[in-house]
Amino acid sequence: MLDIKKLDKENILNTYKRFDLVIKEGKGSTFTDYDGKTYIDFSSGIGTNSFGACDSLWVKAVTEQANTVQHTSNLYYNEPQVKVAKLLCEKTNMKKVFFANSGAEANECAIKAARKYSFDKYGKGRAEIITLINSFHGRTIATLSATGQDVFHNYFFPFVDDFKYAPANDIEALKNLISDKTCAIMIETVQGEGGVNALNPEYIKFIDKVCKVRDLVFIVDEVQTGNGRTGFLYSYMEYNVEPNIVTTAKGLAGGLPFAAILFDEKLENTLSYGEHGTTFGGNPVCASAAYSVLTRLNDDLFNHVKECRKIIEERLKNEKNVVSVSGKGLMVGIELKDGIKAIDVANCAIKNGVIPLTAKTKIRLLPPLNITFEELNLGLDRLIESINEVAK
Ligand SMILES: Cc1ncc(COP(=O)(O)O)c(C=O)c1O
Repeated sequence: MLDIKKLDKENILNTYKRFDLVIKEGKGSTFTDYDGKTYIDFSSGIGTNSFGACDSLWVKAVTEQANTVQHTSNLYYNEPQVKVAKLLCEKTNMKKVFFANSGAEANECAIKAARKYSFDKYGKGRAEIITLINSFHGRTIATLSATGQDVFHNYFFPFVDDFKYAPANDIEALKNLISDKTCAIMIETVQGEGGVNALNPEYIKFIDKVCKVRDLVFIVDEVQTGNGRTGFLYSYMEYNVEPNIVTTAKGLAGGLPFAAILFDEKLENTLSYGEHGTTFGGNPVCASAAYSVLTRLNDDLFNHVKECRKIIEERLKNEKNVVSVSGKGLMVGIELKDGIKAIDVANCAIKNGVIPLTAKTKIRLLPPLNITFEELNLGLDRLIESINEVAK
């Protein structure tokens, strides 16, 4: 058998501190390693496998399209793309869609569109974008610049100018940052990588209002929160607000690289011929996967997500080594008692047959949206056991 770990170390750039786990295959919310040991998956490929591993309808959509034509480029019309775009517009009331391959690319496009909107209308000098401290928007130079965490602002200088960072949930601080140079405000409604922290509803509503009053572009980064993750199709829908741009990726195509940037009527004509493009974005196989996912993101599934959340909160609330549970829906942050390291718990959990994630000092759970109650409870048994084992 291949020595996968050795070959990985020898040949792949060492940018990930991998967990000691080689996944061979998966079905639903269960992964199996090469020794036949099974794991409950609370990670879903960092929120991408919306319906778990190898979901049969998803496999059918992907393989049918792979057997039809795998790629054509954006020089020609393409049926899977228009089906997804129509569905996204219908479900969100947004007006136009651009397709990309990843969350970072989606946010790049949003940043470009926001600046162009402002340039077209107000000319130069109004290009500042306010993002939040502790945000995460991607790994490209522009999206790293947008990311409000100092730890990401090293080595790769110079970063892109004109990003300002506001402390989350502080309306006065935000007011003080907005100036005649501001063109956009970009938020995640739940900061995922930053520690699974949900913004206050009043704060989100204030941003919506101030963007309308000052003609700023309101961008919601739904890369992690979107596609049913929080128990809503897109998380902003919980707050009765109207973003001008919504970016979505991760769970959109159920585990294939696919992203969409949605534009409302204010922005629908901002980017025009030649002003943005991509070779792979909108790829027919990925678009077919997204269509299969999107057609199944319905109230029944959102209610299931909310039920799962209740179970998680109920089971963790009296655990002596758990301080709090944060996030929304199946985007869960678990704050551990002082001295218990999330990374130690994650390693122990994998040993005990459940795969969680971490976010800063918290354990983070992003299970498949259709995880069964039985799988959820079994995973929680193993996770709680692991927390207590590490706490000993
Ligand atoms: C909110 C948010 N935006 C953007 C990204 C970047 O997405 P990608 O890794 O697909 O480029 C992430 C990834 O974790 C994210 O959570």
